Amino acid sequence: MDLLDLKLGSEALLNRRLNDGRSLAEALDALNSAQPALHERLTAQRGKWPLGWLDLPWGGSWVEDCNEQALRLIDSGCSALLVCGIGGSALGTQAVYSALDQPGRPLRPLLVVDNVDPGQIARLLEWAELKSCGLNVISKSGETLETMAAFFHLLQAMEGSGMSREEIASRVIATTDPLQGLLRELAGAQGWQTLPVPGDVGGRFSVFTSVGLLPLAFAGVDIESLLSGAREFQQEALKLPQPENPAWQLAALHYILHLQGGISATVQYVYGDGLVLLGDWLRQLWAESLAKATMVDGSDSGVGQTPVVARGSTDQHSQNQLYMEGPDDKLYGFVTAGRWAHDPPLALPEQLPEKLDYIRGHSFGSLLDACYCGTRDALVEAGRPVYETTFPQVDAEALGAWMQLWMLATAYAGLLYNVNPFDQPGVERSKVITRERLTR
Ligand code: PA5
Repeated sequence: MDLLDLKLGSEALLNRRLNDGRSLAEALDALNSAQPALHERLTAQRGKWPLGWLDLPWGGSWVEDCNEQALRLIDSGCSALLVCGIGGSALGTQAVYSALDQPGRPLRPLLVVDNVDPGQIARLLEWAELKSCGLNVISKSGETLETMAAFFHLLQAMEGSGMSREEIASRVIATTDPLQGLLRELAGAQGWQTLPVPGDVGGRFSVFTSVGLLPLAFAGVDIESLLSGAREFQQEALKLPQPENPAWQLAALHYILHLQGGISATVQYVYGDGLVLLGDWLRQLWAESLAKATMVDGSDSGVGQTPVVARGSTDQHSQNQLYMEGPDDKLYGFVTAGRWAHDPPLALPEQLPEKLDYIRGHSFGSLLDACYCGTRDALVEAGRPVYETTFPQVDAEALGAWMQLWMLATAYAGLLYNVNPFDQPGVERSKVITRERLTR
């Protein structure tokens, strides 16, 4: 697969012994025989599960709509976009933006308000020139507390900045359910432009809908390439026999090591600061989709693997002691770039202390690569399970491929665990208590 360099089955990993003495390779073979045709089983759930995300890479009218709306905002003088959204309505956008907003090739500013943190909103209002901002409120349900509170606060601030009501209305785009919900009603009443979040796509699977595409198009990301990367990945993966499909490999690896190998946490060890938010996006996808109290048939499940994000090389100096010598209960997925878009050589004085002379002739990128290899090899040497996903080049296509890989892997893992990966009943209780506190 050209867009991604995947090393999901090293010899050390495949030879790892499970609780019953079998090797991981033997267990993978057995799982493939016991659970054939997982993709067909997934698509058989159409209508019952929200599987619209499987078709998003093939595009549709919303892609053109996103490009047009983005252009309209830019043409009307918007130099930055304020985005209110949280969870699945923010993380994918933030991850792609952060990966592609590189020195020397900056994107148009996107300011994502994904919290009700008083400092965040105050700083944003200090910084933003509201008269030259667009405002995109994103909520599928149309009533999420954090999103709606931030949105109304920003609307008020725009009114306070002296903009006319008509001017403000022309700057607002509401991304929400196409048919129903509070935000849809408000948009109709206020004359705001709207973009749809399809009913058959859940929040954390929605990055390739208008949720991600409008802000990314505004920022200057080539959204068609994002989709074509996802499409290319899915097409290629589904041509392969199941055991060679990388999405199946990731699902099966996690599932077997978890239930038969005592691996209860999965770490994304990300090298390259721009890529770290990909880890945050994946953390939500894995945690919210797969940790469920009940199985599909209603029996007790209680499964769930803890996803962790580590930032290399910084976290080598904080978490790595735990990873090397703590309990052997984690799987390590290394993520990095094969090439750094901006990688100046280190500027060094002529005279360096002899002990540090080994850094001469390197760039920051080559130091980071060396740290990556050092940490990976040390973990392998310590007998820890490691796999790697590398972007030969960090661009929209490769990011699209990587995200579709993980959405497929998550859905397959749901089938293996026999849980519904598309609901999140556990999220609701805290929302109820929060609302009660605020109503009191
Ligand atoms: O994955 C999910 O469903 C959640 O993370 C939602 O995206 C998040 O709670 C925001 O919901 P909404 O878009 O309805 O405001």
